[in-house]
Amino acid sequence: MVKESDFELVEEPVTALAEGQARVRNLMVAFEPAMRGWINEGESYLPPVGIGEVMRASAVGQVVESATPELEVGEIVTGMFGWQEYTLLDMRQPGMLGGANKLPPGATPEQALSVFGITGLTAYFGLLEIGQPKEGDVVLVSGAAGATGSVVAQIARIKGASKVVGIAGGPRKCRWLTETLGLDAAIDYKSEEVGRRIKEECPEGVDVFFDNVGGEILDSALVNMAQRGRIVLCGGISRYNEAEPSPGPRNYLELTVRRCRMEGFIVIDYFSRIPEAAADLAKWISEGKIVVETDVQEGIENVPRTFLRLFSGENLGKQLCRLAEASPAS
Ligand SMILES: NC(=O)c1ccc[n+]([C@@H]2O[C@H](COP(=O)([O-])OP(=O)(O)OC[C@H]3O[C@@H](n4cnc5c(N)ncnc54)[C@H](OP(=O)(O)O)[C@@H]3O)[C@@H](O)[C@H]2O)c1
Repeated sequence: MVKESDFELVEEPVTALAEGQARVRNLMVAFEPAMRGWINEGESYLPPVGIGEVMRASAVGQVVESATPELEVGEIVTGMFGWQEYTLLDMRQPGMLGGANKLPPGATPEQALSVFGITGLTAYFGLLEIGQPKEGDVVLVSGAAGATGSVVAQIARIKGASKVVGIAGGPRKCRWLTETLGLDAAIDYKSEEVGRRIKEECPEGVDVFFDNVGGEILDSALVNMAQRGRIVLCGGISRYNEAEPSPGPRNYLELTVRRCRMEGFIVIDYFSRIPEAAADLAKWISEGKIVVETDVQEGIENVPRTFLRLFSGENLGKQLCRLAEASPAS
């Protein structure tokens, strides 16, 4: 399990800007379970964050100094600014993860980092492109009270699912899923027998299972899939802190028996289509069809501790940490 003591808070003076550079004061940083993988050694879909480097993270910040015509002082921008109070951006060499982007029109920093950020886009493209939900489908979502899962469940409803069932840890989250998000049912994996409860809620089988968790929950879903069902392998947070990959999934041959498809994806492959997703998400939010929930902690000292909340399940919706308030001049 990742620990607070794996991180160190280091102070150093800011350097003067060179031509083409700008300095951003970070207002809010976002947390993703994938960051746990980024600090492992070895190949992945992004290079690992090395020991002693600033932790990579998406953030919203305000430009406080600029030596580039592309960024104006006072402007609010978003990008991979990392776990730090100030970030030096070089607009001539933005790097593989880009420099700084404007927020979607009218979006708050919280919305820019949640529903319009990595997790909202993951929900949108993962469900629609990989899950391919059809009108009348039964949709099951694990990690349903988290940032990605909560948006998936609501898009499933918008797309005409006949039933949407969420799996989450604890009565508070399960109540929130049914009472606030309007899901048809919620399964508390911490106190209920997940396989039996899926069967009870989805007696005709699950057409789309959007999996954020993996492990035993995936195995329980595999034996409850409908014929020609689709499993979206979004992530497997139940396994991210294990030193060795665990064997499984035990029930994978159900894919054959039930003629199902199980497919993974990485959201960055869809970045060229962000405007399409942002337009749909903005419309659904304005129509009141998507509730956006965020959990905002405070202070740079609390950043590692806030990251751990993802693994203990303390967060409801998107996990964020506020580092500073925007200057009124903006
Ligand atoms: N494929 C992609 O491109 C992509 C992009 C972004 C995210 N993801 C994946 O999407 C998933 C959700 O990410 P997120 O950012 O939206 O995080 P999140 O769901 O907001 O937060 C993580 C949640 O996972 C649950 N959890 C933690 N440990 C667990 C365990 N052992 N068993 C079951 N549930 C556990 C906790 O909820 P409970 O209280 O319910 O346990 C926690 O709140 C992750 O697997 C992430 O890696 C994939």
